[in-house]
Amino acid sequence: MQGINEVEGKVAIVTGAASGIGRAISDLLVARGARVVAEDIDPSVEALAGPNVVPLVADISADGSAEKAVALAIERFSRLDLLVNNAGIIINKLVVDMSRADWERIINVNLTGAFLHSREAMKAMIPQRSGAIVNVASYASYFAFPTIAAYTASKGALAQFTRTLALEAIEHGIRVNAVGSGDVLTNILNTVAADGNGIAALAAHGTSAPIGRAADPKEIAEVVLFLASARASFMVGSVVMADGGMSVKVGS
Ligand SMILES: NC(=O)c1ccc[n+]([C@@H]2O[C@H](COP(=O)([O-])OP(=O)(O)OC[C@H]3O[C@@H](n4cnc5c(N)ncnc54)[C@H](O)[C@@H]3O)[C@@H](O)[C@H]2O)c1
Repeated sequence: MQGINEVEGKVAIVTGAASGIGRAISDLLVARGARVVAEDIDPSVEALAGPNVVPLVADISADGSAEKAVALAIERFSRLDLLVNNAGIIINKLVVDMSRADWERIINVNLTGAFLHSREAMKAMIPQRSGAIVNVASYASYFAFPTIAAYTASKGALAQFTRTLALEAIEHGIRVNAVGSGDVLTNILNTVAADGNGIAALAAHGTSAPIGRAADPKEIAEVVLFLASARASFMVGSVVMADGGMSVKVGS
């Protein structure tokens, strides 16, 4: 039986760590004894600096960011055991109104950022013959919603990327999985909600889940911790739904 501190001494990169689910993941990993490179485009991530957290202000989709994150983990903590591809963004536009730049920004952050970080993390993990990568997908990986086509396309592709990378990685002892999150009370919709109150919008939408509410970010972080740990030693290429039953519901 693994102890509760199953990530004790492990070294992680968490993207999008300044806020919401990423912040909860970073906090939980540190509470359980891990050391974290906390990467975010928002400079407020600097406030997380501490003995077990090294912040990195970077756009995950930019050339060189993934290399910087991995180099920082190795320079400060000597190894890399875990990558959590969490950072993500959304826009709310009909396809007919969406510019190429809108589309590319969502795909670049939600999908290409995960690809670039996974590639660089794998290079560090392969010689160790161990490691784990956890991607933060969504019930939008499987289901369609008008006005968020770029987002659903990026999250659907992230689920497929998870499965294919898992097949390439397991021969090196590296497990790749994802969590398919439901509605979570975070700031992700602040820029798209009509009144700027994304948390209220997510809380309202969460009531349509069978569980009747949206999640606290900590509830998703627990699933990430599990997938990252040796307790999930037989899980390879899984997209684990943590969505209050949203994805198993038929009709209203
Ligand atoms: N909140 C939900 O209901 C929900 C549901 C399903 C999936 N998700 C996924 O969870 C993940 C985390 O989102 P959240 O809800 O915590 O939102 P959030 O907005 O609270 O956090 C996202 C973080 O990512 C950072 N970020 C955005 N673009 C970045 C970039 N280019 N480079 C580096 N950092 C960047 C932001 O600054 C922010 O700190 C996302 O991938 C999102 O798609 C969220």
